[in-house]
Amino acid sequence: MNQKPPTKHVFGGPWTEVKLDAVQYYLECYAKALTWAEMDIWYIDAFAGTGDREATREIGGLFENLPIETITETLAGSARRALQVDPPFGHFVFIENHPERCAALEALQQETTRPVSVIRGRLTLCLRGWSANSLGFAKTSHEAGAWSF
Ligand SMILES: C[S@@+](CC[C@H](N)C(=O)[O-])C[C@H]1O[C@@H](n2cnc3c(N)ncnc32)[C@H](O)[C@@H]1O
Repeated sequence: MNQKPPTKHVFGGPWTEVKLDAVQYYLECYAKALTWAEMDIWYIDAFAGTGDREATREIGGLFENLPIETITETLAGSARRALQVDPPFGHFVFIENHPERCAALEALQQETTRPVSVIRGRLTLCLRGWSANSLGFAKTSHEAGAWSF
C-alpha cells in the first residue's frame, strides 16, 4: 500500500529561524529555572503547525564559484524544538486547526515518549473547553506554563 507523503508546511523566511532560535533559548532558560524550583511545567503551542517547516534558499553564485540553485530544506518548527528542550517540559499541548497539519503533529507525538496532547481545532474554541483535567493530567499547585504563538 502506498504511504501518504508527509504534509509539507511552507512558511516564514530567514527571520523565522531567528525567532525560533530565540523561542528555543527562552524555553531552555524557562525550563532550567522552573525545574530547579520543582514546578510542573507545561508547553502550550497555540498555532503549532506540523512541527516542521519547509524553507527554500539560494545557494551557489559568484563567491562560491558554483551555479546558483534553489534548495528546499525541512527545518524544525516550534513544536519539534520544544520537544528537544533540556531539561524537558512535563507536558506538551499542541493546538492546530488545519486537519493535515494536525495529523503531522500526531505523527510527531508517536516519535516521542514525552506526554503530548494534540488538540485539533481553533484556539479560541479550544480555550473555552480546555482544562488540565480534560487532558487527563492532574492539576497541582506547582504548575507553570510557557505559551508559544
Ligand atoms: C506560522 S504557522 C505555525 C508555526 C509554528 N508555530 C512553528 O513555528 O513551527 C501558524 C499555524 O497556525 C494555524 N492556525 C491559524 N489560526 C489558528 C487558530 N485560530 N487556531 C488554531 N490554529 C490556527 C495555521 O493552520 C498554521 O498551521
